[in-house]
Amino acid sequence: MSVQRNLLITGGAGFIGSHVVRRFVTTYPQYRIINLDALTYAGNLENLRDIENAPNYTFVKADICNADAVAKVFKDFAIDGVIHLAAESHVDRSITDPLAFVRTNVFGTVTLLNAAKEAWKGAYDGKRFYHVSTDEVYGSLHDGGFFTEETPYDPQSPYSASKASSDHFVRAYGNTYKLPFVVSNCSNNYGSHHFPEKLIPLMINNIRNNKPLPVYGKGENVRDWLWVEDHAAAIDTIFHTGVNGETYNIGGHNEWKNIDLVHLLCAIMDRKLGRAEGESAKLITYVTDRAGHDLRYAIDASKIERELGWRPSITFEVGLERTVDWYLANTEWLDHVTSGAYQQYYQAHYAQH
Ligand code: NAD
Ligand code: DAU
Repeated sequence: MSVQRNLLITGGAGFIGSHVVRRFVTTYPQYRIINLDALTYAGNLENLRDIENAPNYTFVKADICNADAVAKVFKDFAIDGVIHLAAESHVDRSITDPLAFVRTNVFGTVTLLNAAKEAWKGAYDGKRFYHVSTDEVYGSLHDGGFFTEETPYDPQSPYSASKASSDHFVRAYGNTYKLPFVVSNCSNNYGSHHFPEKLIPLMINNIRNNKPLPVYGKGENVRDWLWVEDHAAAIDTIFHTGVNGETYNIGGHNEWKNIDLVHLLCAIMDRKLGRAEGESAKLITYVTDRAGHDLRYAIDASKIERELGWRPSITFEVGLERTVDWYLANTEWLDHVTSGAYQQYYQAHYAQH
C-alpha cells in the first residue's frame, strides 16, 4: 500500500497518546505512524502491545526537548503531520517540580514547532501541526457557566500555566511563520491504561487493594469526565476536518463532584468484587487539599459538535463500567506500573496530604 501521510504522534506511549496511536494505526493503514516518546514514568510500551508489530507503525524513543533528535525524525520519515501530546500531565507533580513542566511542556513544544518550521520551510500545503491541550488553561469556574473557545486564559497551577504557554507558542508560530495549526482543549479523560496517580485509576487500584481513598479537601471539586476513546475520536475528527488556526473545546457534558464520583466507583467495585454494599466506601479518607485546587471545570463543546459533528459516543455509566472491567481484567498492568518508582511517589506525595 502506498503511504499517503507520515504522521508524527508525540507522547504516544502515555494514556491518551496510546489510544490515539492505536486508533490511527488501525483506522489508517495508508498512513505511516511514528510514535515519538521519551518513556518517562508515564510512558509505557505495554500500552501498545497489540499494535507494536503493525507494518505502518514505528516507535522512536526520544525527548521532544532534543532538537537534533526531533529534526532527524522529521527528515528520516518526511513528516507532514504532527499530533503533539507529549507532556508532563499531573497537576500534583507540577506543584512539587514546576521546572520539569516548563522544560517539557514549554521548551519541548517550542523545540517541536521549530523542527516543523525548519522541515516544512514554508511549503505548508498538506501540512498540519495539531497541539493537544487542556481545559485547565481557562482557570477555575466558581459561579456557573462553561469554558468556551473565547474564555480568556487564566491558568492557576504550574501545570496549566505551562500548557497555556505552549498553546500561546503554537498560535504565535501560526501568526508569525504561518505554520498551519489546530489546537484542542479537552476536559478530564478516563478509561483504560490511565496511570494510577490520577483520580479514577488511583481509586480503583486502592479499592482493589483495600487501601485508604484519599479525597482532597471536602471532595466538592467538580470535573467534566470524557471517555478517552471519545477524545481520540475527536482528535481524529479535528486532525482531518478542523480548520487551520482554529481551537476546539472537547468535553463530556458530564460533571461530577469528586466525592460523588468516588462513591459511585465504590458502589461499582462492591458489586464487581462481591463485597457487601457500602464496604468500599468505608475506605474514603478526607486529606489535606491540593494547593490552589481549581474548583470546577466544565466545557461548552457546542462548536465541535456544530462545526465538525463530533459528540461523545457513550454515557458515563457505560464508560465507567468498561473502565472498571478493564482494570480488573488487567491487574498485571496495574501491578507493573505501581511497582518501583510509583511506591516512592505515593509515599512522598500522600505523606503531605
Ligand atoms: P501522560 O502523562 O499519560 O503521557 C504523557 C506521555 O508523554 C508519556 O508517554 C511520556 O513518556 C511522554 N513524555 C513526557 N515527557 C516527554 C518528553 N520530554 N519527550 C517525549 N515524550 C515525553 O499524559 P496524558 O494524560 O495522556 O495526556 C496527554 C496530553 O493530553 C497532554 O498534553 C495533556 O496535557 C493533554 N490532556 C490530558 C487530559 C487528561 O485528562 N489526561 C485532558 C486534556 C488534555
Ligand atoms: O481537565 C483536564 C486535566 O485533567 C488534564 O489536563 C490533566 O492532565 C489531568 O491530570 C486532569 O487534571 P486533574 O487535576 O483534574 O486530574 P486528577 O485526576 O489529578 O484529579 C481529579 C480531581 O480529583 C481533582 O479535583 C483532584 C482530586 N483528587 C485527585 C487525586 C489524585 C483527589 O481528591 N484525590 C487524589 O488522590
